[in-house]
Amino acid sequence: MAKYKCRDIPEGSYFSGAVYADNGFIIASPEIPVDENIKKLLLRWEFREMSAEGYLLDGPPMDLLSFLEEADADDSDPPNDDERIIRAAEFYTFLSKFTEKLLDKISSSLSAGQDNGGQPPGLVRDDAGISYQELADKMREFCRIILREGRYLLRIMQYKGTPGEGTDGREPDRIAPPSTKNDYQVSHTVKSVILSVVMGGYLKFNDTQLVELGVAALIHESGMLHIPPDTYLTDKPLTREERRAILSHPILGFNMLQSLNFPQNIRLAVLEHHERENGSGYPQRLTGPKIGLYAKIIAVACSFEAITAARPYKDARDGHLGILDLLKNEGGRYDDMALRALIYSLSIYPIGSYVLLSDGRKAQVVDASPNEPRYPIVRILGESDDAPVKTSPAGLRIVRLAPEKGEA
Ligand SMILES: [Fe+2]
Repeated sequence: MAKYKCRDIPEGSYFSGAVYADNGFIIASPEIPVDENIKKLLLRWEFREMSAEGYLLDGPPMDLLSFLEEADADDSDPPNDDERIIRAAEFYTFLSKFTEKLLDKISSSLSAGQDNGGQPPGLVRDDAGISYQELADKMREFCRIILREGRYLLRIMQYKGTPGEGTDGREPDRIAPPSTKNDYQVSHTVKSVILSVVMGGYLKFNDTQLVELGVAALIHESGMLHIPPDTYLTDKPLTREERRAILSHPILGFNMLQSLNFPQNIRLAVLEHHERENGSGYPQRLTGPKIGLYAKIIAVACSFEAITAARPYKDARDGHLGILDLLKNEGGRYDDMALRALIYSLSIYPIGSYVLLSDGRKAQVVDASPNEPRYPIVRILGESDDAPVKTSPAGLRIVRLAPEKGEA
């Protein structure tokens, strides 16, 4: 448990877990802030420190359960498309902040990295306070929301504007992911989690499998936290040491999770997420049958995210081109079932893409059609009737991407 000096905690602060006075009494929980009265009492009783199971939050925690209950209750009077994307954006922001805190927590708990006095590299300190059970409980709630709101979350993911830019309420599909200290790691992780869980849903995973897959996606890049971001966010040629450091990140992540007693399924998914079906991956050059299913799914989700996201040294590639790249599957690098899960979940023109239709109108892809990845469901832009329309081979077809909303 982390210790905090009472006087350093701003009034009204929320923690992600229970907060204890030094005598073991709980003084605050995730729903109850450390307020002025609690601080005064603690000081009067001469408690100088408090211990917290969780970490300090930026604001009140999002009430995920009420989010779900509201969504359930709304079935009789379903919110419109714009309202749902705004709600999905709130969840996206919550998930991003949760991820940022988790990665920060891992980062600040890392032991001496690769030079660790003869210990295996990648360990975190015992007092890191990272528990698989806590993460799994949270992920169970995340999975319910991701499966339910997937098509809205996927639209938000396709946004290519400036991170941190807000919405003016008129273009809710343009809500940007929040800007965070470590944008690359956080946004790569959040998108990998959403894509992996959506793909797991397509593959009819049960709850336990979905939670394991989601947690594995959430911490799959934890080994990268040992490596300075300058090393991998650049197009300059890598030195031998830098290359070796990057190639070792799956092992560092595996060792870290071993030291935290995470289940083997999850440790292996982290270890194997850069393995490729044809044996061209790393660190063990495993071939298809030896690679676990979670790792195969995360490999496809991560690769799609990496192809379609902007980096300091490259522009974002459109999702459609990213999908075509993956579909080529040159050299047989990716698992067919995982690729199918991605394409059937997203469509060939991924959810969120702006497209030109065969009758000259412009539209946005808003959902996948079951079993027909080439013919997704679209919403025509600039028309008062915004009912979704299904594209089809004999009817309305997508001709090509429309680069920007409102442009052909
Ligand atoms: Fe990785």
